[in-house]
Amino acid sequence: MALTSAEGGRGERGRASAWEAAWEVLAPVTDLVTPMAVRVAASLGLSDLMGDDVVSVEELARRSVTDVDALGRVLRHLVCHGVFVEPEPGRFAVNEPAALLAAGHPSGMRARLDLDGFGGRMDLAFTGLLHTVRTGEPAWETVFGAPFWRYLALNSQISGSFDAMMADGADYVADAAEGYDWSGARHVVDVGGGAGALLAEVLRANPGVRATLVDLPDTVERGRRYLAERGLETRCEFAGQSFFEPLPTGGDVYVLRRVLHDWGDDDARWVLRRCAEAAGRHGRVVVIETPGGSGDDPAMFAEMNLRMLVLSGGRERAAEDYVAIATEAGLDVAGVHTTPLGHVILDCTPPGD
Ligand SMILES: C[S@@+](CC[C@H](N)C(=O)[O-])C[C@H]1O[C@@H](n2cnc3c(N)ncnc32)[C@H](O)[C@@H]1O
Repeated sequence: MALTSAEGGRGERGRASAWEAAWEVLAPVTDLVTPMAVRVAASLGLSDLMGDDVVSVEELARRSVTDVDALGRVLRHLVCHGVFVEPEPGRFAVNEPAALLAAGHPSGMRARLDLDGFGGRMDLAFTGLLHTVRTGEPAWETVFGAPFWRYLALNSQISGSFDAMMADGADYVADAAEGYDWSGARHVVDVGGGAGALLAEVLRANPGVRATLVDLPDTVERGRRYLAERGLETRCEFAGQSFFEPLPTGGDVYVLRRVLHDWGDDDARWVLRRCAEAAGRHGRVVVIETPGGSGDDPAMFAEMNLRMLVLSGGRERAAEDYVAIATEAGLDVAGVHTTPLGHVILDCTPPGD
């Protein structure tokens, strides 16, 4: 049916405004320039180098050991997007959004976005997302030349920054530690315990408890230093080994916090079986996870689920999925609960206990 010219005009205007609305959704998610520019500013520590001053781009290039022309272009782009201000031509200063990028800011954004640290590497892994979607494999190896954990083992600066990021957030660690009743435990084995943040909290709050920290060798050494700084290392043994190998026996609680989400189901079951066999007839296996980062935000869950696949081939799981893999690994799940900050905790026992 032919349209009159008036109807045709309305149709075009209607289509144009639908495209405008669609473009408003699409435009912010297509830009890679601004996210990279803000990461460069964080990596160079520009907010720290400016402090409270209005600084010329030449002086800032000198302080940051960068190219003055390139730095000026980055800053001008960021100013257009509300990060930093340019009160006089060629002179820049920190505004509130830029202040979030300073090293001491409690948001931790500088470390999170630093391209020379773990946070930035994690983001750069997403340049391999197409590979992941085509193959179902993690992108990390294609982007950085070695699988995730191997890469960390070979790069102590990046693995140090990873461990620090994992240990960050005292409230969050306390929430996990307070989420389980350790009073019946004599010897807690933290499997994949990182640099010891959870164990430190458990040992501090439970003076009668001893512990073993199990993790890859470099990380365990960081854990030894972390616990020594808190006067707790004499109550702890250290096992630098893979958790895919037989685990130290003698513990009565084997805890896995934020470990299983790094792995696909087969590997996750394997680690659980290692815990179960070390725990023996009377031990317990406690799984602590943070589905999607924090409870039931579907957007956060979706992002973390994708992130885990791209990085290490892991996956986020709902509480019932953790119950299923624990059961498939031969454990009885005696209880499941969620803590105030969204940790899901499974208390598991050997079958028939
Ligand atoms: C996501 S981090 C969690 C660390 C800590 N449990 C926490 O909640 O902060 C996973 C940990 O698993 C460790 N890990 C990875 N592969 C391992 C392996 N094959 N054997 C032992 N530990 C391993 C890593 O070094 C890292 O410390």
